[in-house]
Amino acid sequence: MDRGALEEPFLVFGQPSLGEEEIAEVVECLRSGWIGRGPRVTRFEKDFAAYKGVEEAVSVHSCSAALLLALQAAGVGPGDEVITTPLTYCATINAIIHSGARPVLADVDPVSMNLSPARVAERITANTRAIIPVHFAGRPCEMDPLCELAARYGLIVIEDCAHAIETEYHGRKAGTIGDFGCFSFYPTKNVTTGEGGMVLAKQPRHREAVRILSAQGMTLDAWKRYRSDGVPHYEVVAAGFKYNMTDMEAALGIHQLARVEANWLHRQRIWLHYREAFAVLPVTLPAAPFPGTRHAYHLFPILVDPREAGTDRDGFLQRLRDLRIGSAVHYRSAAEQPYYRQTFGWQPKDFPEALRIGRQTLSIPLSPALRESDVARVVHAVRTVLETPARTEAMGAGV
Ligand SMILES: Cc1ncc(COP(=O)(O)O)c(C=O)c1O
Repeated sequence: MDRGALEEPFLVFGQPSLGEEEIAEVVECLRSGWIGRGPRVTRFEKDFAAYKGVEEAVSVHSCSAALLLALQAAGVGPGDEVITTPLTYCATINAIIHSGARPVLADVDPVSMNLSPARVAERITANTRAIIPVHFAGRPCEMDPLCELAARYGLIVIEDCAHAIETEYHGRKAGTIGDFGCFSFYPTKNVTTGEGGMVLAKQPRHREAVRILSAQGMTLDAWKRYRSDGVPHYEVVAAGFKYNMTDMEAALGIHQLARVEANWLHRQRIWLHYREAFAVLPVTLPAAPFPGTRHAYHLFPILVDPREAGTDRDGFLQRLRDLRIGSAVHYRSAAEQPYYRQTFGWQPKDFPEALRIGRQTLSIPLSPALRESDVARVVHAVRTVLETPARTEAMGAGV
């Protein structure tokens, strides 16, 4: 144990960087007397649409809500199958289940860690209605072959952009390539509103459907009903959800978005520094960004193979924790999760790349809140763990 490390504060994984502008805007919002969905949400939607170069963005309560509403707006439901990746947060799969459709997994590419178009092609049946590619860690999926498959089989494409606000693929921005793009503003994400999400959709009718479904299926939201020139009556045209964003959340988002590129540059520097600092260590580092793409640098996943590293992933995580560094696992293969295995009969070995990555992967801190001294602590801790592996915990956990 490094004694000096014990005196260091615990470096929390995924800490957001919140500035005075966010704090002042939230206070102003509180003082304004309107804290629900209102003018700040409208401004945040406009700013986000401008950032993405689209006509309109529809805010929601979370990316989980965004995914479900996109599926519903596209008419996906019982009897349908939706193909996605096993290397994702459970929200992606749960949204498919809540839509009434059946989730179908296709394995990932071992280098990009993204949905493999070849594996997707193998899973398409007469019931397939949609594909949800997840731009894992901020690296864009192979959208051209995926969209070609979608066009050939008449499938909807819903991009899960929870990691991918700044991501681009051959000049196109993530979330504007498929039929829908769904974003997350959870505290660890590249832009945060505490909780929050956004939906982009190519077709105006899809955007309108998401907007209505996010507000209980009503044709008018509260701001339009209660403001001085508002119309008091609404009509319920669908059985919707309470999935709207609030002005307090948007107050954060407006200023977070204004700094999105500065924060991206900061994380890019850290990401590149890690790649250099760990180049000779016995772990697998994320591949360099692919040509013609822009990586969002949301995560820096390291693969820890116990046969090479002398420690397994969980041992590595624990030793980083002992050195006061927080890390996280993105993600164990969804095919390993008990509910999905029992409900859909998924076998982890049917998705061997996701299984191996899911058992070896560890994300080290990569947040815009990191100072140079924090990054130096992370680098020192990772080196310490790998240079002095605790051999007793190693071996046997690899795939
Ligand atoms: C890939 C992915 N999809 C969806 C979500 C769900 O986002 P939210 O927490 O905003 O519902 C997350 C959140 O961590 C995620 O990482």
